[in-house]
Amino acid sequence: MQTFPSTLILAIDTSCDDTSAAVTLGRVVLSNVIASQTELHKQYGGVFPTVAKQAHRENIEPVVKLALKKAGVTLEQLDAIAVTRGPGLAPALEVGIEYAKKLATETGKPLIPVNHIEGHVLSVLAIPRPLKTSLENISQPPMPLFPVLSIIVSGGHTEFVKVEAPGKYQRLGWTVDDAAGEALDKFGRMVDLGYPAGPVVEELAKVGKADAFPFPVPMMSSGDYNVSFSGLKTSVRQRVEELAKAEPLSKQQVVDMCASFQFAVFRAITYKLNKILQKEQFFGIWLGGGVAANLSLRHHLRQTIHKYALELTVPYTKKLCMDNAAMIGVAASFGQATTNIEDVERTPRWEIA
Ligand code: KG4
Ligand code: ZN
Repeated sequence: MQTFPSTLILAIDTSCDDTSAAVTLGRVVLSNVIASQTELHKQYGGVFPTVAKQAHRENIEPVVKLALKKAGVTLEQLDAIAVTRGPGLAPALEVGIEYAKKLATETGKPLIPVNHIEGHVLSVLAIPRPLKTSLENISQPPMPLFPVLSIIVSGGHTEFVKVEAPGKYQRLGWTVDDAAGEALDKFGRMVDLGYPAGPVVEELAKVGKADAFPFPVPMMSSGDYNVSFSGLKTSVRQRVEELAKAEPLSKQQVVDMCASFQFAVFRAITYKLNKILQKEQFFGIWLGGGVAANLSLRHHLRQTIHKYALELTVPYTKKLCMDNAAMIGVAASFGQATTNIEDVERTPRWEIA
């Protein structure tokens, strides 16, 4: 086993519907290319696995080449290749893994398999490349104090992860059904906001009233740190159907519904966050995943952690919130290469801890 504290890594992520490749040097992002398939999947209102697989196959080579070009490095210069092994959609994961295995075998470079959730957790450690600095002169920033609490909020996951160090995790709580992003997307479908609806809900919620449609806080008495969104989804569906019986929802009703539902989803998270912070001590709170781009979520989290004198750390750019390969490269810099490349197989279900 070899560890890679500050090495030049080509990372690949094909876990869902984005084909991404990046070059990282330790925590420094040299390039981060993402070929989005959103347009392809819009017609299905969600990710269609076989369509995703085909698009990954077409995109992977040009995306990898562009990542190397943008970083200004050659394959030969690389110290290692990293790839997302899971969790994710099996047919999608397969494309990235097969490509990375082939590349590692052909070039004789080590292969580092990475957990996608670990990538989201460590995405906050990524830093941009300093301007006009050659690779040899790039230095790594100091590490923060641990433990920290990482909150991952994406289309596939909603979890609270205690981070004792990179590679040392304990899942404190998670969603027992839908992920927060998934709940926002499903709600968006009910009121015809297109796919993915999360960013649209954020925009419309800005002009809506969050107290227009009161929803209950789910899992209030569960006694654990888990969250749930399926009950909220049912409540909002019933409310939409009730209103639509009389006449189609007005513009104001839609924006009020967006504000109210988004508030309910985020309150479910801050409620459990508060419970965790009453019991456990951390040096900081990290946020990652696609929904981490939402400014209202950031605001509510900051409000919750303020009384504990804690600060919220978010990825330095929204591109690092969504699925991307730079976070996989950063996670790989703390990871270990596999001893047998052929043994690396997709792992669609793989908990971080
Ligand atoms: O992390 P990500 O790109 O993919 C997964 O690993 O799931 O997250 C995608 C999710 C989608 O559900 C999308 O609606 C949501 O993130 N999302 C947002 C925002 N941007 C993306 N949700 C709320 N507000 C946003 N600004
Ligand atoms: Zn993700």
